[in-house]
Amino acid sequence: MLSAYDNDILTQTGPGTPMGDLFRRFWIPVALAEELPEPDCPPIRLKVLSENLVAFRDTNGNVGLVDNFCPHRRASLFFGRNEECGLRCVYHGWKFDIDGNCVDMPSEPAESNFKDKVKITAYPTQEFGSVIWAYMGPADLKPELPQFEWARVPDSHRMVTRWTQDSNFMQAVEGEIDSAHINYLHSTFEKGQRATEAQFAGSKKGAPDLTIKETDYGFIYGARRDAGETGDASWWRVTQWLLPAYSLIANNSWPRGGHMYFPQDDEHISAFEYSYNPEAPLTQEQRSLGRSKFKIFPTTHTLPDGSITDTFRMEANPENDFLMDRTVQRERSFTGIEGIRHQDMAMTQSMGLISNREGEHLGTTDKAIITARRRLIQMAKDLQEGIEPVAATHGDLYKVRSIDFTAPQSDFTDFLEANGELAVATE
Ligand code: FES
Ligand SMILES: [Fe+2]
Repeated sequence: MLSAYDNDILTQTGPGTPMGDLFRRFWIPVALAEELPEPDCPPIRLKVLSENLVAFRDTNGNVGLVDNFCPHRRASLFFGRNEECGLRCVYHGWKFDIDGNCVDMPSEPAESNFKDKVKITAYPTQEFGSVIWAYMGPADLKPELPQFEWARVPDSHRMVTRWTQDSNFMQAVEGEIDSAHINYLHSTFEKGQRATEAQFAGSKKGAPDLTIKETDYGFIYGARRDAGETGDASWWRVTQWLLPAYSLIANNSWPRGGHMYFPQDDEHISAFEYSYNPEAPLTQEQRSLGRSKFKIFPTTHTLPDGSITDTFRMEANPENDFLMDRTVQRERSFTGIEGIRHQDMAMTQSMGLISNREGEHLGTTDKAIITARRRLIQMAKDLQEGIEPVAATHGDLYKVRSIDFTAPQSDFTDFLEANGELAVATE
C-alpha cells in the first residue's frame, strides 16, 4: 500500500507539483513525427503534463510546441493558419513562430511595438527515433535525449505507435515491471484443460524470484524461474525500468521493444510502443502486423476539463470491455481478451483513473513496483530540495538492452557478471 499523501506525490504531474517538476527535467515524448507529416501541415492539439498545447511544423520543417491559448484573448491556436514560418491565430491574426515570438500583429497600428512585448509559451522540441520530444523545464537545465538503441537505429529498422490510455501513467508503468502477471494474464490453454494447470505446465514455472539492482537510470530487474527437465537451470527475464517512465521488454530477437507512458494529464496517458530490429530493416509483414494488432484510430478526445486533444483511441477500449469474449475465456485464454496490449490495458485501466493504493496488499512479486515508486517519490522530493536527477543529463545511461535467457546460474549477481552487464549494454 501507499499512503494517500505519497500516492498524490507519485501520480500528480501538473505544473508546480513535485512529480510534475521531476518530469519537466526530462525530454518528454509528445507525438509521432508522422503526426506532422510535412512543412505547413495542419497543427495538432496535445495535452502534456496537464498543459494544453498545439504542435505545428513550420515552413522550414521545424516543430513548434506552443500554448493552446492565444495570448491575445485566449482563442485556441489549433484553428490557426500554419503559414510562412509561424502559426497565425484566426481570431485577430496574431502570428507566432516556433520560439514563441509574436512576429505579426495586424490588428494593432503599424507604428505600435506591442508585438515585441507579447510572447506565447513555447517549448523546445527535437525529433529523434520517429518521435517528437519536448522539454518543458527551466531553460538553463535542458537535459540530454535518452540514447535508446531503438531511437538510434535507421528509420527503416524501427516502428513506433501511439495511443491514449485512460488512467494515471503509473498504473501502466507498474504493469511493465510486473513479471509475475505474464503466467496468468497473457496465458492460453487447450480446451478442456484447467486454466490454472496450464500456467505451470512445461518448463517455465509460475512464481518468479525477483532480484533488483538499482542503477543511475532506474533499475535492472531479473525475474528467475526454474527451467529445464529437472529444474536444474534458470529462465531469466532481465529487463530495465528507466526514469521516469520507460520500459524495455525482455526479448532477444524481433520484436525487441518497450513502452513509454507519459501523462497527458493525471488521468490520461500518451502511450508509445516501439519495436525494432538492430540488425536489419523491418519487413512489410512485420510492419503491418505491428500496426494491425492495435486497431488504433486517430480521433479527438474531450477531457474532463472540457479541453480537446487530438489522439489515438483503440477499437478495444473500456467502453466495450476490451471486446472480451466469455466463451474464449472459458475455453482458450485466461482473459478472453485478444492481444497482450489490450489484456494489460484492461487490467491497469480497471484500477480506476488513479488507483487507490491504500487498498492494496503487495506480495513478494511486487518488489520492482515498490522500488520504482520509492525511487520516483524520493527523486521528486529530492528535487524540491535542489537535488537534480542524474539520469536527465546522462543520455548515455539509456544505451541498454533487455534479455531473455536460460542459464545454469541461479544467483543474480553471478548471472549479471557472467552475462548481464555486458550483454545489456549497446554501442
Ligand atoms: S485571440 Fe488570437 S489574435 Fe485575438
Ligand atoms: Fe503484460
